[in-house]
Amino acid sequence: MRISWPELWENIMQCQNCSLGSGCIQKVPGQGDVHAPLMLIGEGPGEQEDKQGLAFVGPAGQLLTKMLSAIDLPRDRVYICNVVKCRPPRNRQPSPEEMQACIGHLRAQVALVKPRVILLLGATAVCAVLGNDYRITRCHGQWIERKGYSIIATYHPSALLRDESKKRDAWDDLKKVRQRLCELSLYPDLLEDKKNEHA
Ligand code: URA
Repeated sequence: MRISWPELWENIMQCQNCSLGSGCIQKVPGQGDVHAPLMLIGEGPGEQEDKQGLAFVGPAGQLLTKMLSAIDLPRDRVYICNVVKCRPPRNRQPSPEEMQACIGHLRAQVALVKPRVILLLGATAVCAVLGNDYRITRCHGQWIERKGYSIIATYHPSALLRDESKKRDAWDDLKKVRQRLCELSLYPDLLEDKKNEHA
């Protein structure tokens, strides 16, 4: 039987599946609309996230808010979380073992939110969700259908802050997300199909 939100919360808060939990200030489970048709998955909490207990609230989060708003989505209408729920020391990438230790929490979150569309932010999320055979440089912007979810990846906002030249590709990826949400008639109050706009 599927676990409930309070059970999942408790599991995350009590989790000692790996050593990250003992080095962080607090767990960062994720937040947003628990019924959102669109779910975003990042890598893991950074410094600000660790301090505030919320996902994507630092500089990368500010850019993410702008990216969402560029496709007419307010942040509170999506669900945002990370592959690992504890900040890795000095913001290093989580190890494969740490990702494995945390993947059950992410799977439970996906099962509870049941989004129609999943946007993976960066290489760690791609690896955790799609597997090691996928590379962000090759698979970004491509739709992958798995278990009833439409999955697409784009560059992590931190990568965009480091390398502005990736922004054009990221923008194209986001437009695809918007288009798919329209096609599926998700967010009808916010999104209109713009394809005939210039006809
Ligand atoms: N980077 C992530 O992957 N997640 C956050 O929550 C913040 C920065």
